[in-house]
Amino acid sequence: MATQRTLSIIKPDATERNLTGKINAVFEESGLRIVAQKRLRLSRLQAGEFYAVHKERPFYGELVEYMVSGPVVVQVLEGDSAVAKNREVMGATNPADAADGTIRKMFAENIERNSVHGSDSEENAANEIRFFFSDIEIVG
Ligand code: CMP
Repeated sequence: MATQRTLSIIKPDATERNLTGKINAVFEESGLRIVAQKRLRLSRLQAGEFYAVHKERPFYGELVEYMVSGPVVVQVLEGDSAVAKNREVMGATNPADAADGTIRKMFAENIERNSVHGSDSEENAANEIRFFFSDIEIVG
């Protein structure tokens, strides 16, 4: 298995409920290492650009408003097959479909307020990491 990096975002519904530590514990228990992390408030421009791939979807406007509604914690996770591992640990996008023990099953409120984002491919991970972090901010 190859060591990879993936981008994770702990979303406003989770920071609002003070769940950052509990979510990070799930990552660490799964073997993922948090090799960069910062808490910030996204601007509408940043949130819109980050989710530009969903621009034509009916939920795009609401998604952007939700992502700027409170602080987020952006992080780089590192480990064996980190992209797939993180998606496994997060669970399905809709918490109603998420498996027991996953972050979204345990913490998400609904399909939008679903507590975490994770990159969906190695290529997107590289782009999303670059969106938030410079190389010197990532310490493996
Ligand atoms: P995320 O994995 O960050 O990718 C896109 C986000 O859009 C998703 O998590 C949800 O927060 C949000 N979203 C809202 N409605 C939907 C929907 N119907 N399908 C997929 N994503 C949705």
